[in-house]
Amino acid sequence: MQLELSERDYTDFSNLIYEKCGIYLHKGKRELLRARLAKVLRKHDFASVREYYSHLVGDQTGKELIQLLDSISTNLTFFFREPKHFDFLTNIAIPKLIRAKRVGAGKRLNLWCAGCSSGEEAYSIGITLLEKLSDSNLREVSILATDISTRMLNVAIRGVYGEEKVEKISYELRRRYFQKGVKNWEGFYRVKPALREAIEFRRLNLVEPFPFNTPFDIIFCRNVMIYFDKPTQEKLVNRFYNVLSKEGYFLIGHSESLTGIGHSFRYVQPSIYAK
Ligand SMILES: C[S@@+](CC[C@H](N)C(=O)[O-])C[C@H]1O[C@@H](n2cnc3c(N)ncnc32)[C@H](O)[C@@H]1O
Repeated sequence: MQLELSERDYTDFSNLIYEKCGIYLHKGKRELLRARLAKVLRKHDFASVREYYSHLVGDQTGKELIQLLDSISTNLTFFFREPKHFDFLTNIAIPKLIRAKRVGAGKRLNLWCAGCSSGEEAYSIGITLLEKLSDSNLREVSILATDISTRMLNVAIRGVYGEEKVEKISYELRRRYFQKGVKNWEGFYRVKPALREAIEFRRLNLVEPFPFNTPFDIIFCRNVMIYFDKPTQEKLVNRFYNVLSKEGYFLIGHSESLTGIGHSFRYVQPSIYAK
Protein backbone atom coordinates (compact mmCIF):
# COMPACT_ATOMS: atom_id res chain seq x y z
CA MET A 1 0.00 0.00 0.00
CA GLN A 2 1.27 3.49 -0.87
CA LEU A 3 2.25 5.75 2.01
CA GLU A 4 -0.02 8.77 2.41
CA LEU A 5 1.73 12.06 3.12
CA SER A 6 -0.71 14.74 4.27
CA GLU A 7 -0.08 18.47 3.85
CA ARG A 8 0.75 18.67 7.55
CA ASP A 9 3.20 15.75 7.35
CA TYR A 10 4.92 17.34 4.37
CA THR A 11 5.18 20.73 6.13
CA ASP A 12 6.45 19.26 9.41
CA PHE A 13 9.10 17.08 7.81
CA SER A 14 10.29 19.69 5.34
CA ASN A 15 10.52 22.33 8.12
CA LEU A 16 12.46 19.95 10.34
CA ILE A 17 14.88 19.05 7.53
CA TYR A 18 15.33 22.71 6.60
CA GLU A 19 15.96 23.71 10.20
CA LYS A 20 18.43 20.91 10.87
CA CYS A 21 20.48 20.82 7.67
CA GLY A 22 19.44 23.70 5.43
CA ILE A 23 18.05 21.41 2.71
CA TYR A 24 14.99 23.07 1.28
CA LEU A 25 12.45 20.55 0.00
CA HIS A 26 10.15 22.66 -2.16
CA LYS A 27 6.73 21.34 -3.21
CA GLY A 28 8.23 19.61 -6.25
CA LYS A 29 10.19 17.38 -3.85
CA ARG A 30 7.11 16.14 -2.06
CA GLU A 31 7.08 12.86 -3.98
CA LEU A 32 10.76 12.34 -3.21
CA LEU A 33 10.09 12.91 0.49
CA ARG A 34 7.14 10.51 0.40
CA ALA A 35 9.20 7.78 -1.28
CA ARG A 36 12.12 8.18 1.13
CA LEU A 37 9.85 8.20 4.17
CA ALA A 38 8.08 5.07 2.94
CA LYS A 39 11.46 3.34 2.80
CA VAL A 40 12.42 4.45 6.35
CA LEU A 41 9.04 3.38 7.73
CA ARG A 42 9.25 -0.05 6.11
CA LYS A 43 12.72 -0.58 7.54
CA HIS A 44 11.86 0.49 11.09
CA ASP A 45 8.34 -0.81 11.58
CA PHE A 46 6.72 2.52 12.44
CA ALA A 47 2.93 2.30 12.19
CA SER A 48 2.48 5.76 10.70
CA VAL A 49 4.27 8.87 9.52
CA ARG A 50 3.08 10.71 12.67
CA GLU A 51 4.54 8.02 14.93
CA TYR A 52 7.85 8.32 13.12
CA TYR A 53 7.77 12.13 13.32
CA SER A 54 7.17 12.05 17.12
CA HIS A 55 9.97 9.55 17.53
CA LEU A 56 12.29 11.75 15.47
CA VAL A 57 11.71 14.98 17.39
CA GLY A 58 11.86 13.17 20.72
CA ASP A 59 15.14 11.39 20.02
CA GLN A 60 17.76 13.13 22.16
CA THR A 61 20.69 11.23 20.63
CA GLY A 62 20.13 12.81 17.20
CA LYS A 63 20.78 9.40 15.59
CA GLU A 64 17.32 9.09 14.03
CA LEU A 65 17.70 12.46 12.42
CA ILE A 66 21.09 11.52 10.98
CA GLN A 67 19.46 8.47 9.39
CA LEU A 68 16.65 10.54 7.92
CA LEU A 69 19.10 13.10 6.53
CA ASP A 70 21.11 10.22 5.08
CA SER A 71 18.08 9.04 3.19
CA ILE A 72 17.05 12.51 2.00
CA SER A 73 20.37 13.88 0.74
CA THR A 74 21.46 13.48 -2.86
CA ASN A 75 24.93 12.00 -2.96
CA LEU A 76 25.82 11.84 -6.64
CA THR A 77 29.54 12.36 -7.17
CA PHE A 78 32.41 10.99 -9.23
CA PHE A 79 36.19 11.09 -9.53
CA PHE A 80 37.60 14.23 -11.17
CA ARG A 81 34.13 15.70 -11.62
CA GLU A 82 34.41 19.08 -13.36
CA PRO A 83 38.02 18.51 -14.44
CA LYS A 84 38.76 22.22 -15.04
CA HIS A 85 38.93 22.66 -11.27
CA PHE A 86 41.70 20.10 -11.01
CA ASP A 87 43.61 21.80 -13.85
CA PHE A 88 43.21 25.05 -11.93
CA LEU A 89 44.63 23.42 -8.79
CA THR A 90 47.60 21.99 -10.66
CA ASN A 91 48.48 24.98 -12.82
CA ILE A 92 47.49 27.98 -10.75
CA ALA A 93 46.34 27.49 -7.17
CA ILE A 94 48.90 25.06 -5.79
CA PRO A 95 52.01 26.75 -7.30
CA LYS A 96 50.75 30.16 -6.18
CA LEU A 97 49.91 29.04 -2.66
CA ILE A 98 53.20 27.20 -2.26
CA ARG A 99 55.03 30.39 -3.22
CA ALA A 100 52.86 32.60 -1.03
CA LYS A 101 53.02 30.35 2.00
CA ARG A 102 56.48 28.94 1.44
CA VAL A 103 55.19 25.43 2.09
CA GLY A 104 58.14 23.30 3.08
CA ALA A 105 59.52 26.14 5.18
CA GLY A 106 57.32 25.40 8.13
CA LYS A 107 53.92 26.43 6.78
CA ARG A 108 51.10 24.11 5.98
CA LEU A 109 48.66 24.05 3.08
CA ASN A 110 45.12 23.38 4.32
CA LEU A 111 42.33 22.20 2.07
CA TRP A 112 38.72 21.53 2.86
CA CYS A 113 36.37 19.45 0.78
CA ALA A 114 32.96 20.41 2.22
CA GLY A 115 30.17 18.01 1.22
CA CYS A 116 32.51 15.22 0.10
CA SER A 117 29.79 12.54 -0.22
CA SER A 118 31.35 9.08 -0.77
CA GLY A 119 34.90 10.43 -1.08
CA GLU A 120 35.59 10.60 -4.82
CA GLU A 121 36.03 14.39 -4.75
CA ALA A 122 38.39 14.35 -1.76
CA TYR A 123 40.49 11.58 -3.29
CA SER A 124 40.64 13.49 -6.59
CA ILE A 125 41.93 16.53 -4.67
CA GLY A 126 44.40 14.28 -2.83
CA ILE A 127 45.70 12.73 -6.06
CA THR A 128 46.10 16.19 -7.63
CA LEU A 129 48.11 17.37 -4.63
CA LEU A 130 50.25 14.27 -4.33
CA GLU A 131 51.03 14.51 -8.02
CA LYS A 132 52.02 18.13 -7.74
CA LEU A 133 54.00 18.24 -4.53
CA SER A 134 57.41 16.80 -3.98
CA ASP A 135 57.81 14.18 -1.24
CA SER A 136 59.39 16.62 1.17
CA ASN A 137 56.32 18.85 1.01
CA LEU A 138 53.74 16.18 1.65
CA ARG A 139 53.79 16.50 5.39
CA GLU A 140 52.91 20.13 5.00
CA VAL A 141 49.52 19.47 3.48
CA SER A 142 46.29 18.51 5.14
CA ILE A 143 42.96 17.74 3.55
CA LEU A 144 39.80 17.77 5.60
CA ALA A 145 36.78 16.15 3.95
CA THR A 146 33.37 16.51 5.58
CA ASP A 147 29.77 15.54 4.97
CA ILE A 148 26.55 15.39 6.93
CA SER A 149 25.89 11.81 5.86
CA THR A 150 27.54 9.14 8.01
CA ARG A 151 26.54 6.53 5.42
CA MET A 152 28.49 8.35 2.72
CA LEU A 153 31.42 9.03 5.04
CA ASN A 154 31.71 5.32 5.79
CA VAL A 155 32.02 4.62 2.06
CA ALA A 156 34.65 7.37 1.80
CA ILE A 157 36.67 6.07 4.75
CA ARG A 158 36.57 2.53 3.40
CA GLY A 159 37.93 3.80 0.07
CA VAL A 160 36.80 0.82 -2.00
CA TYR A 161 35.18 1.56 -5.36
CA GLY A 162 33.76 -0.56 -8.16
CA GLU A 163 35.60 -0.69 -11.47
CA GLU A 164 32.96 1.47 -13.17
CA LYS A 165 33.74 4.29 -10.72
CA VAL A 166 37.48 4.38 -11.38
CA GLU A 167 37.50 3.60 -15.09
CA LYS A 168 37.71 7.27 -16.09
CA ILE A 169 40.88 7.77 -14.02
CA SER A 170 43.95 7.42 -16.25
CA TYR A 171 45.71 4.06 -16.13
CA GLU A 172 48.82 5.69 -14.66
CA LEU A 173 47.00 7.38 -11.77
CA ARG A 174 44.92 4.31 -11.08
CA ARG A 175 48.08 2.24 -10.83
CA ARG A 176 49.76 4.75 -8.51
CA TYR A 177 46.86 5.38 -6.13
CA PHE A 178 44.65 2.27 -6.18
CA GLN A 179 45.13 -1.39 -5.44
CA LYS A 180 43.29 -3.67 -7.84
CA GLY A 181 41.24 -6.30 -6.04
CA VAL A 182 41.81 -10.00 -6.62
CA LYS A 183 39.72 -13.11 -5.92
CA ASN A 184 36.69 -12.00 -3.88
CA TRP A 185 37.60 -8.39 -4.58
CA GLU A 186 37.78 -8.79 -8.35
CA GLY A 187 36.15 -5.75 -9.96
CA PHE A 188 37.00 -3.44 -7.03
CA TYR A 189 39.75 -0.93 -6.40
CA ARG A 190 41.02 0.17 -2.98
CA VAL A 191 42.64 3.54 -2.32
CA LYS A 192 46.31 3.02 -1.38
CA PRO A 193 47.40 4.07 2.15
CA ALA A 194 49.46 7.12 1.07
CA LEU A 195 46.37 8.69 -0.46
CA ARG A 196 43.98 7.48 2.24
CA GLU A 197 46.20 8.90 4.98
CA ALA A 198 46.43 12.31 3.33
CA ILE A 199 42.74 12.89 4.06
CA GLU A 200 40.82 13.26 7.31
CA PHE A 201 37.12 12.43 6.93
CA ARG A 202 34.76 13.92 9.52
CA ARG A 203 31.04 14.41 9.93
CA LEU A 204 30.09 18.07 9.80
CA ASN A 205 26.76 19.74 9.27
CA LEU A 206 27.41 22.91 7.28
CA VAL A 207 24.53 24.82 8.83
CA GLU A 208 25.98 24.38 12.31
CA PRO A 209 28.95 26.42 13.62
CA PHE A 210 32.29 25.21 12.24
CA PRO A 211 34.22 23.40 15.01
CA PHE A 212 37.60 24.89 13.98
CA ASN A 213 39.20 28.20 13.24
CA THR A 214 42.17 27.09 11.12
CA PRO A 215 42.22 29.14 7.96
CA PHE A 216 41.88 27.02 4.81
CA ASP A 217 43.79 27.83 1.64
CA ILE A 218 41.33 26.13 -0.68
CA ILE A 219 37.71 25.28 0.02
CA PHE A 220 35.70 23.07 -2.32
CA CYS A 221 31.97 23.20 -1.76
CA ARG A 222 30.59 21.88 -5.02
CA ASN A 223 27.04 20.78 -5.73
CA VAL A 224 26.00 21.10 -2.09
CA MET A 225 24.53 24.58 -1.81
CA ILE A 226 22.10 23.88 -4.67
CA TYR A 227 19.95 22.14 -2.09
CA PHE A 228 19.86 25.22 0.17
CA ASP A 229 17.72 28.33 -0.21
CA LYS A 230 19.32 31.76 -0.81
CA PRO A 231 19.48 32.94 2.83
CA THR A 232 21.16 29.67 3.89
CA GLN A 233 23.56 29.90 0.93
CA GLU A 234 24.44 33.50 1.76
CA LYS A 235 25.17 32.74 5.40
CA LEU A 236 27.30 29.75 4.49
CA VAL A 237 29.24 31.54 1.73
CA ASN A 238 30.17 34.29 4.20
CA ARG A 239 31.23 31.76 6.81
CA PHE A 240 33.45 30.11 4.19
CA TYR A 241 34.90 33.56 3.46
CA ASN A 242 35.77 33.99 7.12
CA VAL A 243 37.69 30.71 7.34
CA LEU A 244 39.55 31.17 4.05
CA SER A 245 43.17 32.36 4.20
CA LYS A 246 44.21 35.69 2.69
CA GLU A 247 45.43 34.15 -0.57
CA GLY A 248 42.82 31.39 -0.60
CA TYR A 249 40.41 30.06 -3.24
CA PHE A 250 36.77 29.01 -2.98
CA LEU A 251 35.36 26.59 -5.56
CA ILE A 252 31.70 25.85 -6.19
CA GLY A 253 29.99 23.59 -8.76
CA HIS A 254 29.85 24.70 -12.40
CA SER A 255 26.07 24.81 -12.33
CA GLU A 256 26.11 27.06 -9.24
CA SER A 257 26.76 30.76 -8.92
CA LEU A 258 27.08 33.42 -6.24
CA THR A 259 24.80 35.77 -8.17
CA GLY A 260 22.19 37.30 -5.91
CA ILE A 261 24.22 36.53 -2.79
CA GLY A 262 25.89 39.27 -0.73
CA HIS A 263 29.58 38.35 -0.37
CA SER A 264 33.11 39.78 -0.52
CA PHE A 265 34.77 37.18 -2.76
CA ARG A 266 36.68 38.24 -5.87
CA TYR A 267 35.59 36.47 -9.05
CA VAL A 268 38.44 34.54 -10.71
CA GLN A 269 36.73 32.45 -13.39
CA PRO A 270 33.40 30.61 -13.59
CA SER A 271 32.78 28.80 -10.27
CA ILE A 272 36.16 29.89 -8.81
CA TYR A 273 36.50 32.76 -6.32
CA ALA A 274 39.38 34.23 -4.33
CA LYS A 275 39.60 36.21 -1.11
C1 LIG B 1 25.54 15.96 -4.69
S1 LIG B 1 26.65 15.63 -3.38
C2 LIG B 1 28.07 16.52 -3.95
C3 LIG B 1 29.34 15.76 -3.73
C4 LIG B 1 30.62 16.44 -4.26
N1 LIG B 1 30.86 17.69 -3.60
C5 LIG B 1 30.59 16.62 -5.75
O1 LIG B 1 30.43 17.75 -6.22
O2 LIG B 1 30.69 15.62 -6.46
C6 LIG B 1 26.02 16.68 -2.08
C7 LIG B 1 26.54 16.30 -0.71
O3 LIG B 1 26.22 17.35 0.21
C8 LIG B 1 25.93 16.77 1.47
N2 LIG B 1 25.15 17.71 2.29
C9 LIG B 1 23.87 18.13 2.12
N3 LIG B 1 23.50 18.96 3.13
C10 LIG B 1 24.59 19.07 3.93
C11 LIG B 1 24.83 19.78 5.15
N4 LIG B 1 23.89 20.54 5.74
N5 LIG B 1 26.05 19.67 5.72
C12 LIG B 1 27.01 18.90 5.15
N6 LIG B 1 26.84 18.19 4.01
C13 LIG B 1 25.64 18.29 3.41
C14 LIG B 1 25.15 15.51 1.10
O4 LIG B 1 25.16 14.56 2.14
C15 LIG B 1 25.89 15.06 -0.16
O5 LIG B 1 26.85 14.07 0.13
